[in-house]
Amino acid sequence: MSLLFIPAKLGTLTLPNRIIRSATAERMADDITGLPLPTLKACWQTLAEGGCGLIISGHMYVHPSGKCHPEMTAIFSDDQIVPLRELTDAVHQAGGLVAAQINHGGLQCDPLSVPQPIAPSAFLADSISQPMRAMTVDEIEMLIDAYAQAARRAKAAGFDAVQLHGAHGYLINQFISPYSNLRKDEWGGDLHGRTRFLREVTHAVRKQVGQDYPVFIKFGMQDGLPDGLTAAEGAEVIAMMATMGLDGVEISGGLRASNTKRGINQTDREAYFRPLAQFARAHTSLPIILVGGMRSRSVMEEILETNEADFISLCRPLINQPDFPNALKAGTLDKSACISANHCWAEEPGVGIACKCPLE
Ligand SMILES: Cc1cc2nc3c(=O)[nH]c(=O)nc-3n(C[C@H](O)[C@H](O)[C@H](O)COP(=O)(O)O)c2cc1C
Repeated sequence: MSLLFIPAKLGTLTLPNRIIRSATAERMADDITGLPLPTLKACWQTLAEGGCGLIISGHMYVHPSGKCHPEMTAIFSDDQIVPLRELTDAVHQAGGLVAAQINHGGLQCDPLSVPQPIAPSAFLADSISQPMRAMTVDEIEMLIDAYAQAARRAKAAGFDAVQLHGAHGYLINQFISPYSNLRKDEWGGDLHGRTRFLREVTHAVRKQVGQDYPVFIKFGMQDGLPDGLTAAEGAEVIAMMATMGLDGVEISGGLRASNTKRGINQTDREAYFRPLAQFARAHTSLPIILVGGMRSRSVMEEILETNEADFISLCRPLINQPDFPNALKAGTLDKSACISANHCWAEEPGVGIACKCPLE
């Protein structure tokens, strides 16, 4: 039997198979309130019916200062618990499991959503479109609590787990990366200082949700920039995660959209973060989830069989075909039809993510 369909544990949670829907910003929430629209419920229901072992929600903002883009789902107020509960109930009724990915955009917030972003440090870079302000220590402490309260809400809303977003240049990644964290106080400097924010967020989250509730992280193990986080430092951070109280790590990398590589049209282009997972394995005994460009059954099975990762995480293939896991299980498909052209982002309001390929 294929390892893809053997159950495995993530903390206390048993997933029925090894295929995870990686967090995917659905843009299916009301832009003013951040409350989920009926389309989001339908999206998660369809994914649950399609057979993935765990759905990870699109990133949800823990505080209004961290709203990354319009139509992002909110989890910063207790008023959002009941509407989110309707969605988790629907997933459970369809036989699925769902984790909440919680996030703060820091400097990486669309000007339409946050006109002056706050960040670990204020600096100028070609890739940054608006002026940012360095956070005060009071603001850092306020945001640590915002993550903890968001995790409490996720648990109360029936999510089966919480995933911290520590990748793709968002706030946790910004603190860890020497490219964006130029602070000279105890929140910056060496790796111990730059990981303090993650340590304190994890500790505060644990205090809210308890020791038995699954809490894991999506981690940008390297930035891919000359002055950024290197894989060697990323591995050191991974080595700290079990002690921090995390239950697993999803390996990603790169800032902004550079993690979403195009043109995955042959097997040797698949699994583009696989070398990072191999490196991570030597530094932790936590479950490893690998994301990034997996498309073929053979590649996914090989990664599991060689023990490079415990779970395979897919984003674009499940926008294209939400029932891809069931098709793999039934043997009717061996490869995703996704051509990785990145036409799935929602470009205008009111549409949400959708596969629009082939366009080129
Ligand atoms: C439309 C879209 C939205 C995404 N939203 C998120 C997100 O909310 N959180 C996150 O961690 N990654 C997000 N990603 C990145 C994916 O989770 C994944 O890491 C990346 O697409 C590589 O996996 P894939 O090759 O299977 O698509 C998004 C990617 C796409 C294409």
